Amino acid sequence: MIAAGFTARRVQRLRPRIESIVSAALDEMERAGPPADLVQCFALPIPSMVICELLGVPYADRAEFQQRSVIRFDGTRDMRTRMAAEAASLKYMAGLVARKRADPDEALLGTLVREHGEEVDDGELVGIGDLLLLGGHETTANMLALGSLFLLENPEHAEAARDGEHIDEMVEELLRYLSVVQSGVPRVAREDVTLAGQHIRRGERLLCSLPSANHDDALTPEAERFDATRTTGHLAFGHGIHYCIGAPLARLEMRLAYPALLRRFPGLGLAVASDEVAFRPSSVFYGLRELPVTW
Ligand code: HEM
Repeated sequence: MIAAGFTARRVQRLRPRIESIVSAALDEMERAGPPADLVQCFALPIPSMVICELLGVPYADRAEFQQRSVIRFDGTRDMRTRMAAEAASLKYMAGLVARKRADPDEALLGTLVREHGEEVDDGELVGIGDLLLLGGHETTANMLALGSLFLLENPEHAEAARDGEHIDEMVEELLRYLSVVQSGVPRVAREDVTLAGQHIRRGERLLCSLPSANHDDALTPEAERFDATRTTGHLAFGHGIHYCIGAPLARLEMRLAYPALLRRFPGLGLAVASDEVAFRPSSVFYGLRELPVTW
């Protein structure tokens, strides 16, 4: 039901709208002039606006939901703070779902209410909306920020991304190489199983490290090397029945955003030394706190 709205074909229809969202973010950045924080000007607003429009979430609420998402997955915070942020996210979504029930719009949550309102209860709608809002902005924002940093530090790859001809392959390699999602949701073994020589007993919990898998030579030769001509797949979007439903959307956003950024600001460079770039110290998501740039 939900996945049908995110197939590659459905997502292609959003292309003109995503192009204009990217363009508007770059216009704003240009108007404000250098220096700029690429996280706030580019990486966060683009996926946030796209997912807000898709779901029917007011974009005016972005500062709150973006901040709650960061806190929920920040491993440096105590558990109580993180759980409070999660509870606040769910409460926010419950309010939104109640408004959609009362007055369903044309966006995804409103459409779900209109077409399947009898089959799904409010708790399910809240869970769906929360997961899509979180997955829809947080992961792609980290990819846009880290991918931009990588391109700024590797001008030969930036040149190729600006040219745009092989941008699809470049985006796949950035996804593999950067692996922003550090692990999937923990799994529980339903029966005894041996995986890669490791015996796992029924009931044991299992956490898969996606960066480790993506940087393993068993996946692709010389996995530590960035090579945009690779054709091997990767695990950045997970694998199996829980494979990311937002993958086509995230891919399209990145394929449009990186070249547009590099074309608009041909002289773009870091405004601080490389070792001063602030990474998130510990999170489920690999990412940047800010990315100061100038042009
Ligand atoms: C670069 C961007 C993204 C990355 C790297 C990414 C990564 C992932 C990964 C690794 C999983 C699997 C988790 C697991 O197996 O436990 C996943 C699941 C999921 N993602 Fe994404 N994601 C991205 C963008 C998005 C977007 C844009 C959306 C929303 C439109 C989204 C929505 C979801 C949802 C709903 C699931 C759960 C699927 C299920 O359990 O069946 N993701 N994502």
